[in-house]
Amino acid sequence: MLTRDVIIACDFASAEATFAFLDKFEQEPRKPFLKIGMELYYAEGPSIVREIKRRGHRIFLDLKLHDIPNTVRKAMAVLSKLDVDMCNVHAAGTIDMMRAAVEGLTRPDGTRPLLIAVTQLTSTSEERMRQELLINASINDTIVKYAQNTRAAGLDGVVCSPLEAGMVHEACGKEFLTVTPGVRFADGDVADQVRVTTPARAREIGSDFIVVGRPITAAADPVAAYRRCVSEFCD
Ligand code: C5P
Repeated sequence: MLTRDVIIACDFASAEATFAFLDKFEQEPRKPFLKIGMELYYAEGPSIVREIKRRGHRIFLDLKLHDIPNTVRKAMAVLSKLDVDMCNVHAAGTIDMMRAAVEGLTRPDGTRPLLIAVTQLTSTSEERMRQELLINASINDTIVKYAQNTRAAGLDGVVCSPLEAGMVHEACGKEFLTVTPGVRFADGDVADQVRVTTPARAREIGSDFIVVGRPITAAADPVAAYRRCVSEFCD
């Protein structure tokens, strides 16, 4: 059983900006778990992952792969060599694609990073699903179905809204991980997120990992904001 943790979304455009941020945490006894997304990875390449690993952080590499199974298998085999702790795919790529991702990610000794799948992006509305994608099921039904497909393919969990974590655990079991962005402090700015909740409420609903970006990265005191997240969510 993994312990609950806070993952900081390092949505920075360069290595320089990232390290200026991480330097603030140098004296912090708890090394934050970090998420590296497409922007930073495409700007800096695999070297940014190696350098952050060298500093002792755990890394969720959020590249959301979605392609034919053979391509995903080979890409995951490359990513497995980077020694990250968590990576992800889109569940919409189907069970076959997700199985291929697990195969590619698994190292010769049988170990692999955690692998999770994006269900429906929180930016997708039911109306768009119906009109643009011709999906007539409700958004909650698609999230549960995609989570069940993810579990059937042998992955470890899904990315979803913290408000959906309870529903996903009910359908897929308590051990199936829910990694949840869309977290804000009760007295904080929501910005462009819509379905948000606080770290304390995310814990009550059952999130395993919360992904927090701007409430920490844009705070006047990021270390204090991180500690507040940890005390509300983990302790
Ligand atoms: O700054 P904020 O806390 O909103 O950052 C949330 C992070 O989680 C961002 O990196 C965003 O891309 C990511 N994310 C999200 N909603 C999803 C999937 C990922 O907010 N459904």
